[in-house]
Amino acid sequence: VDELPTPALVVDLDRVERNLAAWQEACSAAGVALRPHVKTHKTLELARLQRARGAAGIACAKVSEAEVFVAAGFDDVAIAYPVVAAEACARAAALAAGGATISVNVDGELGVRRLGEAARSHGTRLGVWLDVDTGLGRTGIPADDGPALIGLARLVAAEPGLRLLGVTTYRNAKRPGADALAATAADEAALLALAADALVAGGIEVGGVAAGSTPTGRAVAAAPAVTEVRAGTYVFNDLMQLALGSAREDDVALTVHTTVVSRRGARTTVDAGAKTFGGDSRAPAVPGGEPVLARAADRDASVTAMYEEHGVVAGDDLPGVGERVRWIPAHVCTCVNLSDVLHVARGGVVVDAWPVAARGRRT
Ligand SMILES: Cc1ncc(COP(=O)(O)O)c(C=O)c1O
Repeated sequence: VDELPTPALVVDLDRVERNLAAWQEACSAAGVALRPHVKTHKTLELARLQRARGAAGIACAKVSEAEVFVAAGFDDVAIAYPVVAAEACARAAALAAGGATISVNVDGELGVRRLGEAARSHGTRLGVWLDVDTGLGRTGIPADDGPALIGLARLVAAEPGLRLLGVTTYRNAKRPGADALAATAADEAALLALAADALVAGGIEVGGVAAGSTPTGRAVAAAPAVTEVRAGTYVFNDLMQLALGSAREDDVALTVHTTVVSRRGARTTVDAGAKTFGGDSRAPAVPGGEPVLARAADRDASVTAMYEEHGVVAGDDLPGVGERVRWIPAHVCTCVNLSDVLHVARGGVVVDAWPVAARGRRT
């Protein structure tokens, strides 16, 4: 790996395999399906490893991301996102018409209507999940709004091209610490169960209850109502997961390799900035510490500021000019989306290169 041109994203295959096994085993032991969210890696090879270990289909964020995986033979894809634009509904329906099992999220009437029309005009059926807001405040019907959930479920039932599969949520975790994480997961599962119960009380059949993320997924899997866990970041992990306590240092399976290009006194700069790391998030380098953009994997140094192609480093163990430094990014998903390729290594030796096949698929 030390000969790769930098910046380079390097995957530790032993660690990835361990992460995949741990999560699949935890979900299987709890009797729930694991549907990995592939937005983290956007890579066919990794999705194949997840499938080979027993994943029940995949989840994608966007229709165009799903298109890449369906073209490569993935035939059960949940687009875990509210699909609303008419052209996006048509593309989702086209994937289903081509023979794949496709489902999407809905949280309002327009989406239901447009998806229904698209499915009808393509002569196919789309699965639909009611998106429930369990506290993130991003999308979804509030978990305690039974009448809104029942109303939308009835609209879905009235569309011959749509089939209601169940309820889904994405809660993430906002509070650091393992206890808080367990409490967050319990709350997420309880709120989603509340939504499911309201639907059942309204005479609506709820087949699936899909929840979880890397912070909450393993705890959510144990909740009685949950049938499916959706997690993405667990394949690689990142500084945010370390800060939340949902991963340990040895679970971090992707690092960004860089070279120090300038050092004058303490001012130290590496050859990777926002065009490599993304930089949408910060997380504490150490528990309770200042949030940083990336933290060195094996020394006391952090990236604290970024330009497009420069990362400015601070810390007590600053590298010298020309030295290579490996970084754990704050948020690995946006980082991966900026690279064409993931270099795959075992024991520090490059064994493969995986194209980031769905890179930039945002529509
Ligand atoms: C809808 C949805 N489900 C699942 C996930 C996976 O969460 P994580 O990456 O924390 O595992 C995400 C992540 O953004 C998401 O948006």
